[in-house]
Amino acid sequence: MPDLYAVIGNPISHSKSPLIHTAFARQTNQSIQYDARLAPLDGFMLAVENFRQQGGKGLNVTVPFKLEAHHLSTHLTERARIAQAVNTLKFENNGISGDNTDGAGLIRDIESNLGLSIAGKRILLLGAGGAARGVILPLLLQNPALLAIANRTPHKAEALQQQFTSHGHIVAGDFIAFPEEKFDIIINATSASLHNALPQIPASIFSHAALAYDMMYSHELTHFLKFAQLHGVQQLADGIGMLVEQAAESFFIWRGIYPQTKPVITMLKSCL
Ligand code: ATR
Repeated sequence: MPDLYAVIGNPISHSKSPLIHTAFARQTNQSIQYDARLAPLDGFMLAVENFRQQGGKGLNVTVPFKLEAHHLSTHLTERARIAQAVNTLKFENNGISGDNTDGAGLIRDIESNLGLSIAGKRILLLGAGGAARGVILPLLLQNPALLAIANRTPHKAEALQQQFTSHGHIVAGDFIAFPEEKFDIIINATSASLHNALPQIPASIFSHAALAYDMMYSHELTHFLKFAQLHGVQQLADGIGMLVEQAAESFFIWRGIYPQTKPVITMLKSCL
């Protein structure tokens, strides 16, 4: 019998995680079954319990249940505790371990796949919701020269700045708060691309940028990436690499083997 894993969320039908983990398992000769589970919005805890009763070994958790997964975990890694969000659950004899691999996935994608070092760079992070919160500490741990958080609703960015200020050089404001700053890397962690929208950012933020990164992805360039391209940014990346890299980290947590990610990224891009 293969070991049972799944991704749980609402909605879930478009999740690429089953495809990714099945590819990892084939590549590393692991006997696992990985599927997608829809939990009712008010039924996350019950769905997790049912899965565990069926012999499930671990879960990936996606929108909107990452905070509930954080509450459910009996053991948390530091990065999951600080992100206040869990995307990877591992069921153990003595409890449930919760981790968050999203930030590590972003760092690996930028550094290993795209070939840019974060150390010493000036980074602009757009957004102050769950997606942004999950990557702030991992970014700061790479020692950027500056991390600026810009959000449509600036007080949310300022709250994150307060929370993380002891971990590095971090500033916060709205989208027009940094007119003099020369950013090297701009990361879109807003959900605007999900709604086919463009955050109201001034084109000047791209004037020195080497990389524009959208944590979302679609079959064509997102509005954010099109806007960055129009204003001369050479390197554009969507969230496919991050998605595969965070999955590889989860796979490692469960199976103790680190799969190769590049062939899986290529495969996913070809079937978007
Ligand atoms: P997630 O967990 O995906 O981050 P979230 O917690 O709902 O989702 O946060 C969504 C983020 O995207 C917020 O930063 C939101 O900005 P506000 O705090 O001002 O609401 C941002 N966002 C969503 N749609 C946007 C848009 N059209 N333009 C700019 N920012 C947008």
